[in-house]
Amino acid sequence: MATRVGRTGRRLSVRFLLISLASLVVTLLQAPAGADSVDPAAEARAFRDYFLHKFPNVKPDDFVNGPYALNEDMRRQWEEKEQFPPYEFSLENGKELFARPFANGKHYADCFADQGIAIRQNYPQFDAASGKVVTLELALNQCREANGEKAISYTGEDMAALTAYMAYTSRGMPFDIKIPNDPRAIEAYENGKRYFYTRRGQLNFSCATCHVQNPGEHLRAEVLAPALGILNAMPIYRSEWGGMGTTSRRFISCNSQVRGVPLPPQSDEYRDLEYYLSYVSNGLPISGPGSRP
Ligand code: HEC
Repeated sequence: MATRVGRTGRRLSVRFLLISLASLVVTLLQAPAGADSVDPAAEARAFRDYFLHKFPNVKPDDFVNGPYALNEDMRRQWEEKEQFPPYEFSLENGKELFARPFANGKHYADCFADQGIAIRQNYPQFDAASGKVVTLELALNQCREANGEKAISYTGEDMAALTAYMAYTSRGMPFDIKIPNDPRAIEAYENGKRYFYTRRGQLNFSCATCHVQNPGEHLRAEVLAPALGILNAMPIYRSEWGGMGTTSRRFISCNSQVRGVPLPPQSDEYRDLEYYLSYVSNGLPISGPGSRP
């Protein structure tokens, strides 16, 4: 398996040398700037326009369907599968877990606006009190701990099930991530962006190498999803995993793909990364939970 990844990596590397034009665009997208001159809204527009120009036949909202937006064959198979979606079991489980009271009689619903229904599009949020980004996964565990319960694993089934349910109640709601006028919020966004464009691992790939420069291309049996809308379908069921994966799990496995060292789930970098990626997809509808071949 490892050698197959290696060969693919080298093949891709050669191709990347030729795609200097794409690199130039990517450089422009990530143009570093002082905190004063950062304009996230303008950057998000440029990010979106890059994908709309690269794929003029894909409707903007369709980017939330990941690889299916870019590949007709995969799309047909997916549409058939959606009649009996493989995430159904997790969704039911999530609904049940969400409703189950904690030992103190309180519920997850008590921790969230609108009882936690149709709010997924508002996460991650910048929390002024801690000066940090709070993702939905983190908020769920904060809720548990505030109510005397132990935190659950960020990469486990229960977290996937809970976020699947919360995404499901939010389907169709456009991402609405806010960056308040607070230097710490802007720095979190900048930090997430930096993480996304920094090359790392033995293959020296950044997230952008695969998801900005090469969406729609094959990597082994998979078709690379575009970075625009890449979190809208989370969490996702993947046959390769034989189950559901949270955003945390996906970040870790993508870091491992390039033989890099993954960070602990919900570390500051991953939270900032999620903040950045969600923000640049503002306006695109939540489509989760998703399923991938
Ligand atoms: C070597 C190429 C490669 C790199 C580098 C890479 N990924 Fe991925 N990523 C994949 C593949 C392959 C998949 C599964 C197929 C797909 O959906 O794109 C995937 C899937 C994802 C998904 C789920 C999208 C979906 O619709 O299924 C997210 C989110 C994601 N990657 C984020 C990241 C982030 C963040 C980074 C940087 C830390 C990163 N990736 C780096 C190859 C890569």
